[in-house]
Amino acid sequence: MLNFFDLRNENLIEKIQKLKLEKNAVILAHFYQRPEIQKVADFIGDSLELAKKARETNADIIVMCGVYFMAETAKIINPEKKVLIPYYKAGCLMADTAIKEEIIEYKKKKPDTFIVTYVNSSADVKAVSDICCTSANAVKIVKKLYEQGIKKFLFVPDRNLGSYVKEKLGNDIEMELWDGYCYVHDQVSKEDVIFYRERFPKCVVVVHPECRKEVRDLADFVGSTSQIVKFVKQTSAKIVVVGTEEGIINYLKKIAPEKTFYSLYRRFICDSMKFITLSRLYKCLLEEKYEITLDENLIKEARKPIEKMLELS
Ligand code: 13P
Ligand code: SF4
Repeated sequence: MLNFFDLRNENLIEKIQKLKLEKNAVILAHFYQRPEIQKVADFIGDSLELAKKARETNADIIVMCGVYFMAETAKIINPEKKVLIPYYKAGCLMADTAIKEEIIEYKKKKPDTFIVTYVNSSADVKAVSDICCTSANAVKIVKKLYEQGIKKFLFVPDRNLGSYVKEKLGNDIEMELWDGYCYVHDQVSKEDVIFYRERFPKCVVVVHPECRKEVRDLADFVGSTSQIVKFVKQTSAKIVVVGTEEGIINYLKKIAPEKTFYSLYRRFICDSMKFITLSRLYKCLLEEKYEITLDENLIKEARKPIEKMLELS
């Protein structure tokens, strides 16, 4: 039987579906979104998949249920479309650690260094970067650039993903790391992995590369959210310990109901992702706010590193 909250949610979901059709809108949602948002979304994916979907869509309105940089990315690659985010304060704290002026200053000092910027960054920062990457393609992209003869890199802003890329490509890579990190993933320690290994010796531990090296080193699998989804689909393990934001567990339970999932950390929650609620999504579609607006020139400049990423990935 449905409880009060389920009933209220069902009612909102119905209204959202109706508005979506009336306005020819598409709802894109990240894996970290609340279960009820995942339920109403047309597509659920990681940062790279969301960017690709945003580029392919025929909808007039794109509603991005994720954090601000994801909506900005959708706008940059779809300037002619209306892009909305249900709550304008849903920012990514890691993205905030990279500042455009500081990167310009760095480039003045080291003009021969190639700036590789994680999509978890503002449009301003993207505009002064040479290429973007996501956690799904970072290793592949830097490898391709290295093979093309680029030898010096700065990785912005996640020091953990940057160190993972360096590790994967070997010590020949000359890569400096920006001192940014994700407060959600960086709080996990190796003791958390050891705790689960002792409790469930047959479990598999999957973690996001935004986790620290000491955590990645003890994991069975390291990958972006979509890569974690793929791994879970094919593993025979019955118990999976998930080292990324717990919203993804709702999705994993749907695709692998026979498995048991545990969150690697007691509060593995990105508060910004959770700012997106059904009532905010409904209001967003009804009033067509909050709309992402960016200066034309900024769109032009920020688009270049994103397009370069999409070409190489
Ligand atoms: P993914 O691209 O792997 O979905 O990661 C996005 C993110 O913000 C992780 O914290
Ligand atoms: Fe940003 Fe971390 Fe939230 Fe991902 S989990 S959106 S990196 S703050």
